[in-house]
Amino acid sequence: MSFDLKGFVSLESMSLTCGVFFFSFTLIFSLFSFLLFISRMKPWCNCHTCKSYLTFSWCAKFPNLCDWYTHLLRNSPTGTIHVHVLGNTITSNPDNVEHILKTNFQNYPKGKPFSAILGDLLGKGIFNVDGESWKFQRKMASLELGSVAIRSYAMELVNQEIQTRLVPFMESKTTANAVFDLQDILRRFSFDNICKFSFGLDPGCLLPALPVSDLAVAFDLASKLSAERAMTASPFVWKAKRFLNVGSEKRLRRAIGVVNDVAKEMIRQRREMGSNFNARNDLLSRFMGSIDDDVYLRDIVVSFLLAGRDTIASGLTGFFSLLSGSPDVEALIREEMGRVVGPAQEFPSFEQLREMHYLSAAIHESMRLFPPIQFDSKYASEDDVLPDGTFVRKGSRVTYHPYAMGRMERIWGPDCLDFRPERWLRDGVFVPACPFKYPVFQAGVRVCLGKDLALMEMKSVAAALVRRFDIRVAEPAQEPRFAPGLTATLRGGLAVRVCERKC
Ligand code: HEM
Repeated sequence: MSFDLKGFVSLESMSLTCGVFFFSFTLIFSLFSFLLFISRMKPWCNCHTCKSYLTFSWCAKFPNLCDWYTHLLRNSPTGTIHVHVLGNTITSNPDNVEHILKTNFQNYPKGKPFSAILGDLLGKGIFNVDGESWKFQRKMASLELGSVAIRSYAMELVNQEIQTRLVPFMESKTTANAVFDLQDILRRFSFDNICKFSFGLDPGCLLPALPVSDLAVAFDLASKLSAERAMTASPFVWKAKRFLNVGSEKRLRRAIGVVNDVAKEMIRQRREMGSNFNARNDLLSRFMGSIDDDVYLRDIVVSFLLAGRDTIASGLTGFFSLLSGSPDVEALIREEMGRVVGPAQEFPSFEQLREMHYLSAAIHESMRLFPPIQFDSKYASEDDVLPDGTFVRKGSRVTYHPYAMGRMERIWGPDCLDFRPERWLRDGVFVPACPFKYPVFQAGVRVCLGKDLALMEMKSVAAALVRRFDIRVAEPAQEPRFAPGLTATLRGGLAVRVCERKC
């Protein structure tokens, strides 16, 4: 048998040359992309805003980044600012918001940078996609969330959780005059609800012993670590850590693994129950009627967990913290409840909740000052000019800022910092604000699909607790400080005392 050594050597050296060439090409290409990325961000920008951002000098005057942005946006004649080092145009101008979310919606998708950051957790779920996949899920989800059966099911779950867990928990705290973290309780409450609603699974977070739920812990960690990806100096940092499976990326992978295991198990159990999916009302079962792909199903349902978990808890935490310092508003809510519900009935019905205009006003007003999602970003597909004249470069980030908008004198008048539900009422009837002035649930083409459900859930909790208890913040003088994350969460929680009302 002859062996052509010369041919073998030349083949080997050719593959070595190809390898070196390929490696060098990849290296040069990555370096080029990195430099392009850096150059777009203008890291050398020396303007006052960028310098303050990079040196953290804003921290000396403002408790939170969102408060500093609010200050800058207030002082901008157009209500729009640029943070060049982040390549981010931030606006509080309602005309710009309408342009981004409605008039020129096609030009402002979520974009690849956002999808990449949340991609491992949310996959191709509605929160994380654009285009046809988004359209398909939006259509399917709005059909389900609009159906009377699903809405009644959601309200049944909420009422059950209020009556059997939330109220008994609050009762248990009245005798000891104990201080406890209301934010934690509301997060447990909303996690139980959204899991039952999305998966048909009860994690029992608000059972009397307040157990630690592996799913809740994993889900929180995964949301937090995903959000923190956005804070790294460049996406190359977290992508490299993910590639090497080290540090926060290793923990993120593990946390997502726990969420995936639960999702897989829930899907498996439902498949075993048979194919009459529409007989059940949890979202997973309903979506299984139209989708076979288990990974896609998992992605869709996980988006709902994210949508409904922290947002409701955050909105309610803001509501109770403001109410604690506003006994006059509290008295008016009680007066309305007395009128609509009457003394004999403990919990209001769905119809009665709809009649409570002052309560609606108070809830909207609290989310004006403390929106659960403080800002939201899109990425421009093409060059554009916003209605206030701001030029937006293709590929750059554009952010609208509900937190700042709620605190703008030019939108809400000189008393914009006051908690005053009356601003939402005309002759005692609740009148919603223009959604582009109040984009708390986003607005336009991609407006929140769970808005009505969320408002009913919040009203049910508020009605049940305000009627029965006085809830007082333990240290009211403390300025709210938010933890970094996708949803506004108070760092350290909301310490409160609760006592049963005497009258
Ligand atoms: C106070 C509570 C809530 C607030 C403030 C809120 C706010 C928002 C916001 C700002 C968005 C846009 C996010 C983005 O595109 O980046 C959104 C989207 C969405 N929300 Fe909510 N949400 C709340 C509760 C809920 C609940 C309870 C559900 C489900 C049961 C839900 C379902 C959704 C869905 C499916 C989307 C995606 C819509 C789309 O992309 O077409 N939300 N929500």
